[in-house]
Amino acid sequence: MSILIDRNKRVVVQGMTGREGQARTRLMLDYGTQVVAGVTPGRGGQRVMGIPVFDTVSAAVAAVGAIDISVLFVPAKTVCSAAIDAIDAGVKLVVIVADRVPLWDAMTIAERAAERGAQFLGPNTLGVLSPGNAVAGMLGGRADSARQWFKPPLPKGVGIISRSGGMSSSTGYYLGQAGVRISTIVHVGGDAVLGVRIPDAALAFESDPQTEAIVVFGEIGSSQEEELAEMIRRKRVTKPVIAYIGGKAAKEGTRFSHAGAIIEGGRGTHAGKVTALREAGATVVDAFGELPSAVVSVLKAQGGRSLMSQSERDAVWTSAITKIAPNSVAVRGHDIASLMGETSFGAAVYLILSGTMPDVRVGKLMDAILVSSIDHGATPPSCLAARTVASTGASLSSSVAAGISAINRHHGGAIEDCARQLGAILARSTRDGVTLAAAAAAELADFKGRGERFSGFGHRIHSKDPRTAKLFELAAAAGVDGKHMAAARALESALSNTGKALPINVDGAIGAILADLGLEPRLFNGIFMIARTPGLVAHVIEEQTREKPMRRIDPERHAYDGPVL
Ligand SMILES: CC(C)(COP(=O)(O)OP(=O)(O)OC[C@H]1O[C@@H](n2cnc3c(N)ncnc32)[C@H](O)[C@@H]1OP(=O)(O)O)[C@@H](O)C(=O)NCCC(=O)NCCS
Repeated sequence: MSILIDRNKRVVVQGMTGREGQARTRLMLDYGTQVVAGVTPGRGGQRVMGIPVFDTVSAAVAAVGAIDISVLFVPAKTVCSAAIDAIDAGVKLVVIVADRVPLWDAMTIAERAAERGAQFLGPNTLGVLSPGNAVAGMLGGRADSARQWFKPPLPKGVGIISRSGGMSSSTGYYLGQAGVRISTIVHVGGDAVLGVRIPDAALAFESDPQTEAIVVFGEIGSSQEEELAEMIRRKRVTKPVIAYIGGKAAKEGTRFSHAGAIIEGGRGTHAGKVTALREAGATVVDAFGELPSAVVSVLKAQGGRSLMSQSERDAVWTSAITKIAPNSVAVRGHDIASLMGETSFGAAVYLILSGTMPDVRVGKLMDAILVSSIDHGATPPSCLAARTVASTGASLSSSVAAGISAINRHHGGAIEDCARQLGAILARSTRDGVTLAAAAAAELADFKGRGERFSGFGHRIHSKDPRTAKLFELAAAAGVDGKHMAAARALESALSNTGKALPINVDGAIGAILADLGLEPRLFNGIFMIARTPGLVAHVIEEQTREKPMRRIDPERHAYDGPVL
């Protein structure tokens, strides 16, 4: 368990097509968040990383089913209407990232949320993150960093509540360094009018069975810490509270970085908060640097299970791919026995490479991509290498490894090259503010000028590659038709305008589709290796069982003698 978010929560990103919306959706997906839809008025029908975009949240709910959480990457002036759109569509938690949201708008959202039994986090929040599970918002930055910094609750953790965005991550990081596991990090936001406040988050942690203690990064201004102290006194919060309060040196009337961090009328002072919390029984440290050791001491004193074992702390490397425990194997957080029989191999490949479980149609598309490259006859370098090595008497593993070693930039590499080149067309179109057709023509001219050719177009045997049409058909069925595929079509036209009919080939189609699925180009050569391995095994076994040792393999004079098409 965690509070506010977990990996089963279905998330919509409002403003998904915008700058931050796109970048953060990628990071949320990378961390395991189930982003099921995007919303931007006027952009309904588009897709971002394969995820459908709708004009309103109600349209998204009608199409993809109920949604639990909305994350708003929309500018301050449109936050109110966007939040109300989400609340009215039945979303129960709205995460408002934007800063400078007018107070009146925050109050309007609060009123509507209260009427509909919804909550909102922020405004001016980095969001909420449950280590090893999911994130809604910007907390933690890159998924790889967040995985390294914040230690998941195995089995227990401490809950972090922070009024500062940057210090939410820093608190999580330093606790991790001290060997403390975390159930959830909540950044309540820095504004004067907030949705979820420190007392609300503390009550949620109090009822969360996975949370053993509550760590608070507070600051001057507002009455949130004093209210928490009152809750501790009244035993509504019984779990240990360890706190640091920022702003000791701030003078009355001076805003301490955040809109809500100001002492007014003698209320919200540093001393007042520290005294209230200490008198209620909380541990309050004087310096932020003392917080991790104070948390460790409190946990040790109560025999807490949120502390990492010495062997876990001594681990010299960590891996986020597969967890093995007695009688349990979990790949990217999915029980392997449940995957078996339910998940196609293509979906499992997507899962293990990206960390995200694709929907069934994307799984089918991945299957098709793998099948399309399973073998391409005896002539490709990988097959020649594998069969030649096998003919010397080498083992199956050495022979297949020889074949894999031949998969490189010039064999199988066209998939990655093509994706990068299509990316360059897209970047040029945005940078120069020109159409894709113009950007494709300009990139093509540059390539020609350098004496280079585009990868993924044309084929030495096929003028109409049978696999390409099929892949595009399956991509359309899976709803994948993004920017890279559009750039590929633009390039195909640009090539034919120069008098060269070089249609997109199977490598180009795979590169465009994989990029539109949001996978990183550096994985693509690996995906080709995964696809081609069964073919290489078959060739090596055939070589070992049918041919004489040390035979001269002649790619020009070979013949097929298998089943007829
Ligand atoms: C929220 C914020 C991140 C958005 O920035 P951005 O991505 O650069 O903004 P953009 O203008 O590029 O994108 C906003 C998108 O929302 C869309 N949008 C506007 N109103 C919308 C609405 N009601 N519903 C859904 N989407 C909406 C816009 O159309 C735009 O998409 P488009 O580019 O496809 O047209 C920025 O305004 C902000 O407040 N940044 C500070 C965040 C911060 O530091 N928070 C505090 C942490 S401590």
